[in-house]
Amino acid sequence: MQTDLRGRDLITTQEWTLEELETVFDVAWDLKRRRALGEPHALLRDKVLAMLFFFTSTRTRTSFEAGMAQLGGHAMFIDSETTQIAHGDTAKEIGEIVGRYADGIAIRQCDWNFGNKYIREVAKYSRVPVLNMQCDVYHPFQVLADAMTLMERFGRNLKGRKIAVSWAYAASYQKPISVPQSLILLMTRLGMNVALAHPPEYKLMPEIIAQAQENARKSGGSLEITHDMDEAFKDADAVYPKSWGALLTTTDNAESARIGKQYTDWICDARRMALAKEHAIYMHCLPADRGLEVTDEVIDGPQSAVYDEAENRLHVQKAVMALTMRS
Ligand code: CP
Repeated sequence: MQTDLRGRDLITTQEWTLEELETVFDVAWDLKRRRALGEPHALLRDKVLAMLFFFTSTRTRTSFEAGMAQLGGHAMFIDSETTQIAHGDTAKEIGEIVGRYADGIAIRQCDWNFGNKYIREVAKYSRVPVLNMQCDVYHPFQVLADAMTLMERFGRNLKGRKIAVSWAYAASYQKPISVPQSLILLMTRLGMNVALAHPPEYKLMPEIIAQAQENARKSGGSLEITHDMDEAFKDADAVYPKSWGALLTTTDNAESARIGKQYTDWICDARRMALAKEHAIYMHCLPADRGLEVTDEVIDGPQSAVYDEAENRLHVQKAVMALTMRS
């Protein structure tokens, strides 16, 4: 077990070893158990987390803020409307200055072809750990919570289990590709058989696909890519259908909306759920576009794991904060 993770950034799970990720899960379950028993666990007393949000959030903000309070510390909410982080303050200045005030810096910056670079620039100049609360490329805490949820349902060893990571239609804005990319990276590392389904225009980054293929080769898992949602769902243990933008095809919102309208039948409904295994779970990071990405019947039905995924955000984030931000 890896026990010294002090000072480490978490920008993508890909940069942490499997042993380090196993430590995160161990600590997350311990903190979940302690919270269930009402046991105090003020592991970060007097510590401060600065949370910089360039984009809106519900789960990420509330779970990080609640998590820091439960660990005995404080979380500062810094948004781009009421501060100067989106104009004037450079990434270097944020790293240098906020890193002197706080014990950790968490950032959500999802601008396409910018967010990840920004977070890495802050990390370069910060003396404290930098945590990625979602960028244009990765959403590491979401998929750690998803993996924890899968392990709770299917056991700690996920090798050989099949997960369908599928694009689904939504009328709203071009959502980041960070969730499907992080999913295929982590689940292949854990030895899962990943079926990635999307219409041709909704490709993920080629370098991420290559890394996921290499992960699968090393773990004994697999990565299959299809343009058929039904095919991906067949015999899956878990399905994760969600919308993302055609960002590698176009950055024009009107063009993206036109492309998306061809695929309104890419919805997760009861017929498609029946293609998966009987015990299959429905997963989504939320918020979901109900009636477009998924029917109410599925997301509110007995196979839905969405509330457990959302809860587990709290536990994995507390684990990473406790491990990286402690004295
Ligand atoms: N899943 C997730 O990151 O939710 P928020 O965008 O509400 O934080």
